[in-house]
Amino acid sequence: MRYLTFALAKGRLAKTTLAMLEQIGITCEEMKDKDSRKLIFVNEELKLKFFLAKAPDVPTYVEYGAADIGVVGKDTILEEGRKLFEVLDLGFGKCRMCVAGPKSANELLQHHELIRVATKYPNIAKDYFYNKKHQTVEIIKLNGSIELAPIVGLSEVIVDIVETGSTLRENGLDVLEEICPLSARMVVNQVSMKMENERITKLITDLRSLL
Ligand code: PRP
Repeated sequence: MRYLTFALAKGRLAKTTLAMLEQIGITCEEMKDKDSRKLIFVNEELKLKFFLAKAPDVPTYVEYGAADIGVVGKDTILEEGRKLFEVLDLGFGKCRMCVAGPKSANELLQHHELIRVATKYPNIAKDYFYNKKHQTVEIIKLNGSIELAPIVGLSEVIVDIVETGSTLRENGLDVLEEICPLSARMVVNQVSMKMENERITKLITDLRSLL
């Protein structure tokens, strides 16, 4: 039996995923050692390997087959646009992709003005404004603290994740338009899905019954 390899997006997503896997009998003791600098962890008995990666890299590892299975947010899947199968909504990490800004920007959106949009997700923003809204905008890529952009005058609006809404609230910004709901998803390499169908299908079935 060959190893099945999991790529997990570092952080909260990975922690919740490991807890879920544990509930269906998949454990990785090696991974629990917080001081370890190891990058890849093995469960010899179940012939499984696990590694943590930056979220945007997870779909890359899965598309190329360096990982058979990945767990990552829908935001990253949409942004990266990799060839893979999205097989399961894991139901946690729920949030929304939104257009946000000061209330005054509402008018600019309604009148399809040529505005600037700051975002960590340029592909999602482009798809939304160009293909869905048919509005020409200038997209400015940022790498974090996106809410700053309209406050300091870099852009009129932002496209970003909203979870509780408190970051927006505390900075005097509002959700202006909703793009799509998001949550953690399981993705599978297209070849692995065929070659390891039985094991992967069982994993999906077990997780589904847990959900
Ligand atoms: C995310 C997102 C928002 C915030 C939304 O940022 O970009 O800023 O969380 O959460 P809320 O609606 O519950 O306030 P993250 O903390 O991941 O950091 P970043 O801004 O550096 O991307």
